[in-house]
Parts: sequence; structure tokens; C-alpha cells
Amino acid sequence: MKRLVVTGGAGFAGSHICLAAKAAWLDCEVIAFDNLLRRGSEENLARLAAGGVRFIHGDVRQTQDLEALGAFDALVEASAEPSVLAGSGGGSPNYVIAANLVGALNCAEACRRHGAHLVFLSSSRVYGVEALRACSLAESPVRLDFAAAQTQAGVSAAGISSAFSTSGYKSYYGASKFAAEQILAEYAHAGAFPVDCVRFGVLAGPWQFGRADQGILTWWLLNHILQRPLRYIGWGGSGRQVRDFLHADDMTDLVLRLLQSPGLLQNRSLNAGGGLGVSASLAELTAQCRDLCGGGPEILADPVTRYADIPCFVTNNEEISGLSGWLPRKNLAAILSDAYNWFKTSPGLLDKLSRL
Ligand SMILES: NC(=O)c1ccc[n+]([C@@H]2O[C@H](COP(=O)([O-])OP(=O)(O)OC[C@H]3O[C@@H](n4cnc5c(N)ncnc54)[C@H](O)[C@@H]3O)[C@@H](O)[C@H]2O)c1
Repeated sequence: MKRLVVTGGAGFAGSHICLAAKAAWLDCEVIAFDNLLRRGSEENLARLAAGGVRFIHGDVRQTQDLEALGAFDALVEASAEPSVLAGSGGGSPNYVIAANLVGALNCAEACRRHGAHLVFLSSSRVYGVEALRACSLAESPVRLDFAAAQTQAGVSAAGISSAFSTSGYKSYYGASKFAAEQILAEYAHAGAFPVDCVRFGVLAGPWQFGRADQGILTWWLLNHILQRPLRYIGWGGSGRQVRDFLHADDMTDLVLRLLQSPGLLQNRSLNAGGGLGVSASLAELTAQCRDLCGGGPEILADPVTRYADIPCFVTNNEEISGLSGWLPRKNLAAILSDAYNWFKTSPGLLDKLSRL
């Protein structure tokens, strides 16, 4: 590969992908394309430059910004408004739809013009909220798990596979990602260019700025470090809701594998996440954060469940592992300690983040 564009390249996932790609393919020009909408993404620019990545300021909503890039061999679409709550509560969903759906369409058109490979970072949020809430759960005092016996397709004790229902509402964020997936699948099936689409679960690791919309794990951890009060929201306010977590290094490992083998996912949108072994309830996460930080803030209970909240999401990686050989390698303790060390050892970082 001679030229790679990563949209959202100054963001959390995008910056990790840019740097890993440049390190793996020294002769490749790697371009981080980003409109720096995310507060904090500007902090990545020096790190990208030091790693030999070129930054270009641009917006995926603007076709002329993508056209100005010229030809490239592959594009990783990692830009987004990533908040599940974007547009809810009386706000406008205009930006989340324009950036995530129209932006993905514009990326697809750029790939079509250059015959380039497109890797799309989709989300586990494409699955229907009501279908996820209807799964049978096994309840323990500290967590909720998928029960062994289920009535819906695509869910088992091992988690959610791509066969799970995408029907029903899923948040503007999830809907924009799902709609983009559908359009990209049409390009792929029409043979316009190869597309590989991954529905990532919750991502985490260093260079995630501890904001709730970027990923719950580092936000929870940062609030432990800064001793800021937290709330267990929804599901009775007991903190038993469960997610699995994927380290940024495992995410980049998968994306680089896909870049090396265009079309590897055979036009299917497949899940990738930490899996059951790297899952935790909020209550369990609290215990680990307290161990790491030597204590933590007060945690209040807010029993009201919000419209897009789900009690449990654990990724079943079987399909993507079968096609790519990829498996996550970093466990929860490694993800937490990597993020913790980054927060604690980067000069001035905690001060900056406490003001973001
Ligand atoms: N963080 C997660 O847990 C998670 C989980 C599943 C999928 N994803 C997906 O991964 C991708 C990366 O997410 P992230 O966590 O790195 O988020 P992020 O907010 O850190 O990065 C997104 C980047 O996109 C940029 N951006 C936003 N709008 C843009 C636009 N119109 N044009 C150009 N750039 C724009 C932002 O400035 C930011 O730097 C997104 O597509 C997201 O949907 C993230």
C-alpha cells in the first residue's frame, strides 16, 4: 500500500490506526484527515507528526475536502459523532446523521473514484434496543449475563453475533451507522470497491480522553482518579449492566489485518469486541478502579433507564475470528492499567482533561 487515508485520524481510534499503519508500512504515506470537532483531538497532532503521519484538516461532510486528497489505495472511515445520546433530549440529530451517514457516503464515493478499499468502523449500537432488552438474562448480585436459553436468533451465553436483530430503534447514532453500513454493502455487492465493515463494541485505552461519549471505561476510570461523583444510571441504579471492552491495540491489529486482505469479511458486517472474558458490570469496574486508584468517589444511584440504555452487551467474536484469525489479547486488567498509566504519567494531562 502506497497511500492510506484515515478519516477521524486525529481521534482516539483513528490516531492509533494511523500510527500502527505507519509503523507497519514505512513506505506508505499515512494521512490523518479530521475536522478536529472532538475536543482533545488536537492533542494527538504532535504525536501523529512524530510518528510520520501527515495531518490534513478536512470534513467528511464536504465532498471537495475528500476530492482534494487525490488518489489513495485505502480509506479507513473512523470519523464520527460517536455519542449514543446525540440528538436525543430535544437536540437536533442533524450533525450525527450528516457526519456518520452522509460522511460515510462521501467516503464511499471517494473510494469508488479511486478504486480504493474501504474499512468502516461501525458499532454494536446497530442492534435494536428493544430486542437487546428482550434477551433472557441470568442475574447475580453484581452483574447481568445472557442466559444459556434464548428465544431470539444471534444471542447466546457467549454474547451477540451478527445474526442478532437490527430491527427497531437504536439511537440516532446507531441508526446512522446502520444506514451507512447498508449503503456501503450496496457498493460492495455491486463490485464498486472492496468494503470491510466491523461492528466494534466499546473501545478503550490510552489516548482516550475520559469522556462518556468516547467510551465508558476510561471515563469511569478518570472520574475515579479525579474523585468526581459517579452515578449508576438505569436498571434500578445497582450498576449491574454489563459491557465488554476492546483495547485500542487489539482494534488496530484487526484493522491492519483487514487492510492487508481487502474483502476478507466477504461483504458481511461482523462484530468485534473484547468478548465475555473482557466484560464487566459497572459495579465490577468500580471495584477494579478502586483497587487501581486506592479508592474512589461516591457512586449515586439513578434508577431511571434512558431511552437507548441496554442491560447487557457482550460481543461474540466467533464469526470475525473464523474469517480473519483475529482474537483480542488484552484483558481488562491490562486495559485499565494502560489507561491509568497514561493518565498518571503524561505531564499536565489530568489538569487538561479536568478542564475539557
Ligand atoms: N469509542 C468506541 O467505543 C467505539 C465503539 C464502536 C465504534 N466506534 C467507532 O469508531 C470510530 C472512531 O471513534 P472514536 O472513539 O475514535 O471517536 P473520536 O471522537 O475520538 O474520534 C472521531 C474523530 O472524528 C472527527 N470528526 C468528527 N466529525 C468529523 C467530520 N465531519 N469530518 C472529519 N472528522 C470528523 C473528530 O474530530 C474525532 O477526532 C467512530 O466511527 C465510532 O463510531 C467507536
